[in-house]
Amino acid sequence: MLHPSHIEISEAALQKNISFLRDRLKDGVRLSSVVKGNAYGHGIEVYVPLAERNGIDHFSVFSADEALRVMKSATRKPDIMIMGMIADEALEWCVRSGIECFVFDLDRLHKIIEMARQVGVKAKIHVELETGMNRTGYEPEEMKQLVEVLTKNKEHYLLKGLCTHFAGAESLANYVRIKKQKSAFKSWCKFFEKQGLKPEYKHTACSAAVIRYKDTQMDLVRVGILQYGFWPSTETLVEYTSKNDIHADPLKRLITWKSTVMSLKNVNKGEYIGYGMTFLAQQDMRLAAVPVGYHHGFSRSLSNLGRVLIGGQRLSVVGLVNMNALLVDITGCENIKRGDEVVIIGNQGELEVSVSAFGELSNRLNYELLTRIPADIPRKVVP
Ligand SMILES: Cc1ncc(COP(=O)(O)O)c(C=O)c1O
Repeated sequence: MLHPSHIEISEAALQKNISFLRDRLKDGVRLSSVVKGNAYGHGIEVYVPLAERNGIDHFSVFSADEALRVMKSATRKPDIMIMGMIADEALEWCVRSGIECFVFDLDRLHKIIEMARQVGVKAKIHVELETGMNRTGYEPEEMKQLVEVLTKNKEHYLLKGLCTHFAGAESLANYVRIKKQKSAFKSWCKFFEKQGLKPEYKHTACSAAVIRYKDTQMDLVRVGILQYGFWPSTETLVEYTSKNDIHADPLKRLITWKSTVMSLKNVNKGEYIGYGMTFLAQQDMRLAAVPVGYHHGFSRSLSNLGRVLIGGQRLSVVGLVNMNALLVDITGCENIKRGDEVVIIGNQGELEVSVSAFGELSNRLNYELLTRIPADIPRKVVP
């Protein structure tokens, strides 16, 4: 392996998570796998064929470049839906390729309809409605004009969806806001149907909503974080396990991030370790250098704080995390040698470094941590 670290993606874990999810979906609800952010750091090219092998036939992405990557790595012609950015230059490709597109302003709608007219292919659109997230989506005052444009141009598009996104379903603190969003969405759906605009799918639910608010599942759900084996928040996990009286996490993390010991060194009591003076050896110490640094996604804020697993032991990062390396205190661990496996995230023997523990120390959410794992670290699927 040329790269100083690599990532393993577990197929068994994915099977477990997908079957957990399917068991929670109401009959007939379609599962769209959200693979934006490089499949939440898992790697679109590795993850998409794996997900397809496990029954996924619909993928959601943020932008046209990600849609292209999904299309290139897919093996079975899945449906692909762009929930965010499509540059004007990408519209023709999207329409011709049958990519499903969120539309959330009148300008985008006019452009996509015009493109469909020019190329003679019906655009597949999902109309996103503003219900209280205040990010993207048609505002109530735009609905009349929206309906007029849609009604006039029915031969140029397929109304694949009416949709919205919740502003924080993973936190009970947002309960009232989500409730208002649900009811706004339901009444706008009725309004559209009265105007003769019936979508193939109504969809609103992300991971937290799937678990927490069953009535949000509708016809399709857009699930990201759960499929990768992470909960949207600790609160969602605690609520789920306590309500169902289970004691173990029913999800399994797909990702394990591993490196190796690059070199070993003894340091005398009274010496500083690494750059500057953040760590003073209080005793004679032995250190292992690991070729992973902030350039590889191991946050500098984990300096003197982070933990890794080597030789079945949980060991501390000492000194500042460097651009390409970190140092681990292995004092007293006589058996550790150059080339030994280092687990940065994942299990080794009985021990685990969880992404959330990693995240709590570095003040980052699972979402942010995962998606920041650099795309160029090699990924491989393991059974
Ligand atoms: C519009 C939309 N739908 C679904 C998701 C998936 O969310 P989650 O990963 O919490 O399932 C996201 C992610 O942020 C999103 O922006």
